[in-house]
Amino acid sequence: MNMSRRRFLGGATVWIAAAIAFLVRPMRLLASSTKLQWFDLGLLDKMPEGEAVIVHKAKRVGHNTPVRIDALIVRRTGTEVRILSATCTHQGCDVIKKSDGKFLCPCHGAAFGENGEVLKGPATAPLVPVEFKIEDGHLLANWKK
Ligand code: FES
Repeated sequence: MNMSRRRFLGGATVWIAAAIAFLVRPMRLLASSTKLQWFDLGLLDKMPEGEAVIVHKAKRVGHNTPVRIDALIVRRTGTEVRILSATCTHQGCDVIKKSDGKFLCPCHGAAFGENGEVLKGPATAPLVPVEFKIEDGHLLANWKK
């Protein structure tokens, strides 16, 4: 191998290492931005009684990326609380609430009951329960950051 070729390969190696380092850092930031964290949904007493409601939250999905809206379904019956992800289990669209209390996925037409059970495909799995806790009267959901 002559000297100019060796010098070229050495320089290329440095540039490739710099490019990998440049790409890995944002990927790490993005991965850390999807960790779960407790999110305050507000006072439990203010949640509608006996009715499932959709709660939205804006979230930033990465450095210099647009804010995205996430949604949860919250149902309070007396002191009982149930929180479900509003993300359809088929391919990830957010469901919307219908006037009859059911949840419909606008993407491919799946339907879910108030407890997240599948009423109509193509989804085959129920809406996913979300962990929660109550602190000082506030309802906190363990939600993706
Ligand atoms: S993403 Fe909901 S039915 Fe396909």
